[in-house]
Amino acid sequence: MREALKKRVLIVYYSFTQQTRILVRQFCRGLEGEGVEVAFERIKPLNPYEFPFKTDLRLVNVMIRTFFRGRKEVEPVSDRCFEAWDYIVLAGPTWSYHPSGPMLDFLDRYGASVLRGQKVIPFISCRSYWRLHHLSLRRVFKKLGAEPQAPIIFMHPTKEPYRFIGLLLKLRGKMIRRNWFRKHYEMYGHSKEQAMQAFDYGVKLGKSMLDS
Ligand SMILES: Cc1cc2nc3c(=O)[nH]c(=O)nc-3n(C[C@H](O)[C@H](O)[C@H](O)COP(=O)(O)O)c2cc1C
Repeated sequence: MREALKKRVLIVYYSFTQQTRILVRQFCRGLEGEGVEVAFERIKPLNPYEFPFKTDLRLVNVMIRTFFRGRKEVEPVSDRCFEAWDYIVLAGPTWSYHPSGPMLDFLDRYGASVLRGQKVIPFISCRSYWRLHHLSLRRVFKKLGAEPQAPIIFMHPTKEPYRFIGLLLKLRGKMIRRNWFRKHYEMYGHSKEQAMQAFDYGVKLGKSMLDS
């Protein structure tokens, strides 16, 4: 039997280029440091996308599908998702202004049974456009009878247009080695400082849970 007072958080996440995964791992470390029990549930598409995309057309195809909220069927989730949690963190990237195809499919299939009656924290990793994504998640949570909490948002820290070019290159498995580009674009995705920030968010949530 689990300790009577132990607080519990479930992190349900999808991550394509590993940015969400890196951040939620740090977030989890922060929570665990405060004595919170954390479980992970990774959303897995039945037929994963290729990575990197072999042609521009295939990449554009996925972007267009997601723009129209196209779903990507996911594998069944584990039984622990249906337990009661103090919080559920729903984490994933923004794709074409929306949640990703696998996340939308998860919400269709399991949203009602996993999220109803639970406090849900949206956790978003994106290049820059998260507002519509967040709004649509809030709408779904309310419809499902979940309690939406304040979101945790991370945007790629590099300036435009470099972060947009960098994203496209990453998705196509390419790289610009020229110095002028490197000067403006150190690397794809989130920074080390943001990973530390994710850790701090975990600590903060952990402390608030223990105080409540
Ligand atoms: C198909 C696709 C579409 C994307 N569309 C957007 C978008 O509309 N707005 C945005 O800010 N980022 C967009 N991104 C960038 C991701 O949100 C960003 O790279 C995120 O950090 C990836 O997280 P992940 O590695 O956990 O998948 C898109 C990425 C992909 C693969």
